[in-house]
Amino acid sequence: MIGLKIVLDHEGCIGCGLCISTCPTVFQMAEDGRAHTVQPAVTEQEQQDARTAAENCPVSVIAIE
Ligand code: F3S
Repeated sequence: MIGLKIVLDHEGCIGCGLCISTCPTVFQMAEDGRAHTVQPAVTEQEQQDARTAAENCPVSVIAIE
């Protein structure tokens, strides 16, 4: 699948949930209460939303490659 690769530092996540509510097709909550990525940001909307999530994550653990 082609798309923007999103890298999330799972260990650093504090589980605020913002990325998941901003872009639920890319970010999901893992069983340990921290977010992880489930796919790259493919559509334009996903890419925009993933960037918004990266900018707004309170602990800045989301990076876009
Ligand atoms: Fe975690 Fe940041 Fe998302 S704290 S839940 S990676 S917005």
